[in-house]
Amino acid sequence: MALLLLMPGRDMQGWKKNLLAVDGALDVRVWPDTGNLDEILMVVAWNQPPGSLALFPNLRCVASLGAGVDHILSDPALPPGVAVTRVVDAQLNRMMAEYVCLAVLHHYRSFGRYEEHKRERKWVQEPVPPAEGYHVGIMGMGVIGRTVARALQALEFRVLGWARTPKSLPGVRVFAGKQELDEFLSLSNVLVCLLPLTPETKDILNRHTFSLLPRGAYVINVARGAHLVEEDLLEMIRSGHLSGACLDVFREEPLPPDHPFWQEPSIMITPHVASITRPESVASQIVENYRRLLAGKPLLHQVDPRRGY
Ligand code: NAP
Ligand code: GLV
Repeated sequence: MALLLLMPGRDMQGWKKNLLAVDGALDVRVWPDTGNLDEILMVVAWNQPPGSLALFPNLRCVASLGAGVDHILSDPALPPGVAVTRVVDAQLNRMMAEYVCLAVLHHYRSFGRYEEHKRERKWVQEPVPPAEGYHVGIMGMGVIGRTVARALQALEFRVLGWARTPKSLPGVRVFAGKQELDEFLSLSNVLVCLLPLTPETKDILNRHTFSLLPRGAYVINVARGAHLVEEDLLEMIRSGHLSGACLDVFREEPLPPDHPFWQEPSIMITPHVASITRPESVASQIVENYRRLLAGKPLLHQVDPRRGY
């Protein structure tokens, strides 16, 4: 039986090396050199080619190389009954916390404006909003959202959260469900999206959502591009309701060169790098799941396909 790395565009040989460093006896194959298709028991997938997940008659598990699984659950080639797992990794969480803190501080301390002032050789001291009454609202209080919340709290930001189910977290007021979304939004001066992409959360960053944020609010999307209705963001920035956005993920990646976001001065763009899975950090959990699969044991970090995350 074998484990197949199916992630075109990634350093699959590097991943193989890391998996073999955990267990040198593993049969690890690298797409497109699958060998006998019947022998593939587990696939580690990212950007998998259309139809590829349907090629393996004995497939029992598809593992995402990242935290998100939307690319697997939405793949029509995923055979029914195949387990789907994701990565949960302290290093991935920490990188996201770094990114979000940087984006929040960049906005809060007006670094974008100082870049403009420098170009014009202007000495202007921008106001800093009082910390009291300034809230960073995080949509999605999962593994990553909670780490981001703690990092922002360490900087003494007031943090709010929104999740599907109620939860109690030290120092964070967490709102739950659709019924509490409006109040959460009305208090969020910065809105950070860290939701999984599911049918319920697709397009959630839209004109209506933005209109409920306080005037001048800033949006950070580090989840998935399809959470955001792009025209609505542009409209709300151009009308002055939103002060800008920091975007790491896009409906189309790479972002096409003629996309209007490139021209919008108050939109910061990064190429899906907010948090990147390091193979050396997650190889052991992938190998552990492969062993569990062989032994018929429950898998780590298995997602619920009905819930979508
Ligand atoms: P997670 O642990 O599964 O947490 C998901 C959170 O979202 C949970 O708090 C969940 O609520 C909440 N949620 C789900 N559906 C909801 C809904 N309909 N309404 C309100 N809340 C909802 O996920 P994670 O590990 O934190 O990762 C979040 C996402 O970040 C990933 O899915 C991925 O897309 C993205 N990501 C992006 C990058 C990047 O580089 N840009 C890197 C890593 C991850 P409950 O707690 O009530 O279940
Ligand atoms: C990256 O986008 C991930 O889901 O880990």
